[in-house]
Amino acid sequence: MAKEKQHFVCGDCGADFGRWEGKCAACGGWNTLKSFNPGRGSGRKGGANSTMPRSEPIPLSQIANGGGARIQVAIGEFNRVLGGGLTPGSVSLIAGDPGIGKSTLLMEALASLAEALPVLYVSGEESPQQLKQRADRLGVQGDNFPVLMENRLEEVVRVVEETGPAVLVVDSVQTLASDDIPAAAGAVTQVRECAARLIAQAKHRNMAMFLVGHVTKEGQIAGPRVLEHMVDTVLYFEGERGHDYRILRAVKNRFGPANEIGVFEMRENGLVEVTNPSQLFLSERVQGAAGSVVFAGMEGTRPVLLEIQSLVAPSPLAQPRRTTLGWDSNRLAMLTAVLEKRLGLGLFSHDIFLNIAGGFRITETAADLAVAASLFASHRNISVDAGLVVIGEVGLAGEVRAVSHAITRIKEAAKLGFNRCLLPKKVFNNLPENLPIRTDPIASIEEMAELL
Ligand code: TYD
Ligand code: MG
Repeated sequence: MAKEKQHFVCGDCGADFGRWEGKCAACGGWNTLKSFNPGRGSGRKGGANSTMPRSEPIPLSQIANGGGARIQVAIGEFNRVLGGGLTPGSVSLIAGDPGIGKSTLLMEALASLAEALPVLYVSGEESPQQLKQRADRLGVQGDNFPVLMENRLEEVVRVVEETGPAVLVVDSVQTLASDDIPAAAGAVTQVRECAARLIAQAKHRNMAMFLVGHVTKEGQIAGPRVLEHMVDTVLYFEGERGHDYRILRAVKNRFGPANEIGVFEMRENGLVEVTNPSQLFLSERVQGAAGSVVFAGMEGTRPVLLEIQSLVAPSPLAQPRRTTLGWDSNRLAMLTAVLEKRLGLGLFSHDIFLNIAGGFRITETAADLAVAASLFASHRNISVDAGLVVIGEVGLAGEVRAVSHAITRIKEAAKLGFNRCLLPKKVFNNLPENLPIRTDPIASIEEMAELL
């Protein structure tokens, strides 16, 4: 028998190497490569997969179009993030910090499907009592809701084969282990091989599957990053410490737009959908505070209004502080330089604190103008009109550039009672008549300063 080739796999990022090295060339981690022997159970070498039918190529035209067959979960925000419902045969990874609410979300979703479809919830980390307690809190009856406490992969595969669920939840993939692999559960080799076997089974059976993955920083436990390229959909469940709202974000989706978000609130008896996130993020705004400016952002296909706050104050330090929360600090440095050069604000002697209220993160450059307006207003101590929203990207010459989805943003602002929008001149020129809100075109940062 030919000697099996040995691999070395990085415990942090999952990169595969033919020989051992001290430093992972993919992620730069030191001493993270572990020896990895695919073994006889590996999907790559036949093994467990050899019981599957032989593959034959078929013409593309003969493949049935499964486009219309989405399964609707009873949670609208969840369907939205999945791209309009759950696709049969799809594999989704739900990753997030421990305690953020992954098990809660999946139990709610699965309970709503259990009425109509065979489902299975596999838990490798909780006792039956813990599951029962959660079910009671959520008001899940659970007659058609089979649960399996198991962390041996082979048993899970067998039960799935015998009971044939249409939707499977594995909570979590880090607790599964295969007998074929000489490593502890949670090791990168285990996580990868267990996921590969389950994914093959899901595709073969046309079963929708959710894998739960804990995000951990340390190299010993394989983070779910390892799985990101193996699955169809990667969802991150996020939340800020001290806030009750949770955001489900699709960072990769083969069946819908990426970056779509769903917003939830964690309550005493489960997660509740927040259908109007703008209202939530603006709820604590102090109207007319200097340095507070509202930005009409886009998250995926959905508009979200966010409050940008800044505090610009004379600094006693030789090197003034620049602190940003929820916004890129390089982008802040660029905007302060532009304000300095174009408007001569003298920011070099000031501390600058910039915060996106509610703990949200903005990655869009379309927020540049709103950030600039906020900095300017705080520096001059002007209180900005409470009915104003701002959109626009700022270039190095102080010019204001066009942004996408302007009409969607404006309509959302109007819906929440805003009556005026500062926007790029290029966008203004292409706007339709009779918008529900007054629009002011801005071509440069100087014009913004004048208008404020
Ligand atoms: P959980 O779903 O167990 O998190 P994960 O699976 O991501 O580790 O949720 C844990 C937290 O959520 C826990 O701190 C309690 C809280 N929680 C509620 O506030 N309300 C509820 O109805 C439930 C079930 C949990
Ligand atoms: Mg859990």
